[in-house]
Amino acid sequence: MKVKVEKKSILDIEADAIVVNLFEGVKNPAGVTGIVDKAYKKIISDYVIKQEKFEGKYGEIYVLPLVKENKKIYVLGLGKSDEFDFVKIRNLNAKLIKQLNSKKNIKKVVSILHGAGIAGLCPENCAQMITEGIISGLYCFDKYKSEKKEINVKEFVIAEIDDDKFKKAKKGVEKGLIVAKSVNGARDLINESAQYLYPETLADYAVKNSGVKTTVYNKNQIKKMGMNAFLAVGQGSVHEPKLIHMEYIPEKKAKKKIAIVGKGITFDSGGLDLKPPASMLTMKDDMSGAAAVIETMKAISQLKPNVEVHAIVATCENMPSGSSYKPGDVIVAKTGRTIEIDNTDAEGRVTLADALAYAEELGVDEIIDIATLTGACMVALGTVASGIMGNDDGKIKEFISIAKQAGEKFWQLPMDEEYGNSLKSDIADTKNTGGRMGGASAAGIFLSKFIAKTPWIHIDIAGTAYLDKANAEGIKNASGVGVRSLIKYIAG
Ligand code: BES
Ligand code: MG
Ligand code: ZN
Repeated sequence: MKVKVEKKSILDIEADAIVVNLFEGVKNPAGVTGIVDKAYKKIISDYVIKQEKFEGKYGEIYVLPLVKENKKIYVLGLGKSDEFDFVKIRNLNAKLIKQLNSKKNIKKVVSILHGAGIAGLCPENCAQMITEGIISGLYCFDKYKSEKKEINVKEFVIAEIDDDKFKKAKKGVEKGLIVAKSVNGARDLINESAQYLYPETLADYAVKNSGVKTTVYNKNQIKKMGMNAFLAVGQGSVHEPKLIHMEYIPEKKAKKKIAIVGKGITFDSGGLDLKPPASMLTMKDDMSGAAAVIETMKAISQLKPNVEVHAIVATCENMPSGSSYKPGDVIVAKTGRTIEIDNTDAEGRVTLADALAYAEELGVDEIIDIATLTGACMVALGTVASGIMGNDDGKIKEFISIAKQAGEKFWQLPMDEEYGNSLKSDIADTKNTGGRMGGASAAGIFLSKFIAKTPWIHIDIAGTAYLDKANAEGIKNASGVGVRSLIKYIAG
C-alpha cells in the first residue's frame, strides 16, 4: 500500500473513503471536518451528531455512506481533547485500516492529518503516527496460511493544504514507513517457527536485512574470544551458535557511541531443567530482543543519525541433550568471572554475560540490552509495561520518557544489592539464579556483574514481546516491542 501526503484540499482528492474526525462532545465541527460537513450539506452535524447521536468517544468510528457519490465518510471519534496524544492517533488508525481493508471496494482513502489542527500537535509526528498505524496495524503473519490476507486498500492519502504542515507531514510519513517496516520485520522474525529460525538463519537474516556492516562469528571464533558462557548455553543443540555484530558508523564524527544487545535464544526449551509444556509453547519468542536490535539497525541505516551504533546478538538454542550444559557446571565467562549453573533455564543471562562484555570492549559510551529474560518480570508487570533497570538512573528515566512518546511503556524495577544475595555460590563467583522471588531484579543484578563501568540499561520484555490477546493496536502474538523506543532513543 502507498501512503503519501498531497498538498490539496481533502475535497479535491478523489477517493472511495474520506476520513475526518471529531473530539468528544463537539456539536459543530470546525477545521477540515467542518469543511467536509459544509460541502455535504451539514450531514455530519445534522445527521451523524444530532440524529445518530455520535459522541466522538475515543475509538468510535461512524461510517456514513454517500450513496450518490458512491463513497463513504468515516468519522473517527478522538475522545476528550485534553487526553488526546500521538499513541491514540496510531492505535485509532490501526483500527481504522482494518475496517477499511475489510471492504473490497475501498481502494483509495483520503484522510485528515489528525492532531495537527485544533489539537495543535506536531504535524510531522502526527503523520508518522498515522503511517505507523496503517502499516503496522495491517500486519498479519500469514506465511503458512493457504489463504493470504488481501490488501484491498492500495492508496492512503493524507490531505494537507498548509505548506509548512505539508512539508512536515511528508517527513513524518517517510519516518513512519521506516519505523513501521522495522516493527513488522521484528514481528515476522519472532512469529517464525524455531524449526526454520535458528542461529544460522537468524544471522543470515541480519546480514541481508540489517542494512549495515554485519559480521557473523562461528563457534571456533567465539571460543577464541573466550565467550564460554555463551557457548555453554548452546552446546546441547544441533545448531551452532553464532555471534552477530552489526555496526553503523555515521559519516560525520559521531556525537556518541552506543551498543544495543539483544537476547537471541531461538528456542528456549529450558535445557535439562526442561520447561513444562505450557511454558515452552511460546519459546520461539525468546529471540525477541535480537529481533528488536536487528530491526532497529535496519531503521538506523535509513534514518542515518549522528550516532555510532553497534548491535550485538549472541544467538543459540537452549536444548536438552547428552551434550547440554548441566546444573552444577562451572563456567568461566569472557570477563574471567566464574558462573555456577543453578538452573539451565536461566540461560538468557548467561549468554548476555558474554555479549555485554563483548559490547563493553568496543569502548562505547552506553549499552542497552533487551531481552525476554524473566517470567518474574511478566508476573510483575503483565503484558502492559516492560521492565527497565540498570546502573544509570538518569539514562533510565530518559529512556522511559522517550519511549512514552513512541507509545511504549516501561516500568523501572529496583536494583538494590540485596536482590543479588540469592546468587551467592559456594564454589564460583556467582550462581546464575537463586530462586523465583524478585527474579527480574536478581537477573538484572546478575547481568550488572559483567559490566565494569559503562552506563547500562537493561530491558526485560518477557511479558510484552508475545501476546496471547490483541493489544490496543489490535496486534496478537509477536508485538515487535522495543523497536519503536530504541529507534526513537537513538535517532529521535
Ligand atoms: N525465556 C525465559 C523467560 C520468559 C518467560 C520469557 C516467559 C517469556 C515469557 C527465561 O529464559 C527463563 O526461562 N527464565 C526463568 C528463570 C528461572 C529459571 C530463574 C523463569 O523466568 O522462569
Ligand atoms: Mg529459560
Ligand atoms: Zn529464555
